[in-house]
Amino acid sequence: MNAGKTNILMVCLGNICRSPLAEGILKSKLPENLYFIDSAGTGGWHAGEAPDRRSIQVARKFGIDISNQRARQIHPTDFEKFDIIFAMDHYNKRDLLQMAPNSIASKKVTLILDYLKDSEKINVPDPYYGNERDFEHVFYLLDEVCEIISKNLIK
Ligand code: 4NP
Repeated sequence: MNAGKTNILMVCLGNICRSPLAEGILKSKLPENLYFIDSAGTGGWHAGEAPDRRSIQVARKFGIDISNQRARQIHPTDFEKFDIIFAMDHYNKRDLLQMAPNSIASKKVTLILDYLKDSEKINVPDPYYGNERDFEHVFYLLDEVCEIISKNLIK
């Protein structure tokens, strides 16, 4: 996608709640000249839409603007373009692995919370049917794991 950069894709179901936050948070922690970070959904129902207003609000509360992002569905070529593909939950991971064209592509797919080494948390919970507190919980979880990921990448 961007030669010379590490290309990272954040994936959830709708690409309007969790993965836009993950994209915005990781972007805020990594240098733009070295990392390209994008997000997509396994589903395409919300393609073209801005992130959920509750994701925009919680990101803004912590100084991150995600309002210019637009949802898109993952495309088979993403498996070539991106170096690392983070799934927000195990359903997303399962769907990504089903879509992956070969074993090189499959190896790029990882559950994002696997980076919380000593945690039993597996999934970033889907806050779509929840409230502002659920979105804030998702923000904290993603901020914690993106901090670890960014440190791992930079060292
Ligand atoms: P996301 O949340 O996968 O974190 O973007 C959802 C957004 C929309 C729907 C489900 C989850 N939906 O069913 O439309």
